[in-house]
Amino acid sequence: MCRNMAEDEKEFQTVELFNFKGCNLSGIHTIKRLDQMENYDVRDSDVFIVTYPKSGTIWMQTILAHIFMDEDLKTGECKPTYREAPWLEISVKEIITDDRPSPRLFVTHLPYELIPKALKKKMGKVIYVYRNPKDVAVSFYYFHKFANYLETPENFGAFLQKFLKGQVDYDSWFNHVKNWYNHREEFNIIFQSYEEMTQDLKTAVIKFCKFLERPLDDGSINIIVEHSTFKNMKKNPKLNYERAGFPIFDPSVPGFMRKGIVGDWKTHFTVAQNEMFTKIFQEKMEDVPLKFIWEPGE
Ligand code: A3P
Repeated sequence: MCRNMAEDEKEFQTVELFNFKGCNLSGIHTIKRLDQMENYDVRDSDVFIVTYPKSGTIWMQTILAHIFMDEDLKTGECKPTYREAPWLEISVKEIITDDRPSPRLFVTHLPYELIPKALKKKMGKVIYVYRNPKDVAVSFYYFHKFANYLETPENFGAFLQKFLKGQVDYDSWFNHVKNWYNHREEFNIIFQSYEEMTQDLKTAVIKFCKFLERPLDDGSINIIVEHSTFKNMKKNPKLNYERAGFPIFDPSVPGFMRKGIVGDWKTHFTVAQNEMFTKIFQEKMEDVPLKFIWEPGE
């Protein structure tokens, strides 16, 4: 069954997925925590970053933690962002997730179906970040080598098949994006593309500040943008999980900050894989008018 090593400090023993209410999840989760999610006590001041894995979650963690930093923003003294904006559905012993002063920031990969009911009544605020799924698949492939709780794929082709079938942690990318988007009216939500953040981060940060009602001066916005660049996050262990020392990760392979580019899929997909993926994407995402950017400069 599933176990949560971070919570009970047992050695991690399985890389098998399990199904929770129709969603494939990995052994990093506990049923106990997942069971709390539906009726989770959401506060109206809560802010949720929602992503499918590998879509820019820790980038958003950094940006939002900075937006809510107040005085420390000027001194550059930041706390580890995995504490400032912890995972909603994964309880880690030494990280306080629930009992924090407002406004609480969270990140979550939960699909629409498993998200707290209160959020669907427009409690709290949600920023949903999406990324083109070819790059998500490549990033997720490498993440499987880094995360000890995920099966190490035989090769990229084998992983791609599983990704397309939703036989991965957090299930199908297609369902995740579609269901969150199709139910958007139930939430206080904005959608943000990962690729647009790579093109113009400042505009994205200004958009987040407006949505979150956190008016910041231009100097503060510039500091946030500077701290949140790939280059700076890669060298700051408080922002890139390097210092977290979670035994669930293998420190010998590139971790969260791998490449941070648009279009890495082009050096991983064969022509046939690309054609197959594009066809499935067109069929499944036909009714979702979100703009996807597949290549740099598009
Ligand atoms: P790659 O593996 O393609 O490099 P998540 O945080 O959801 O796990 O997503 C991780 C992906 O976001 C990684 O993609 C990582 O490099 C990218 N990323 C993280 N911070 C970034 C930044 N500041 N700028 C661009 N990409 C970033």
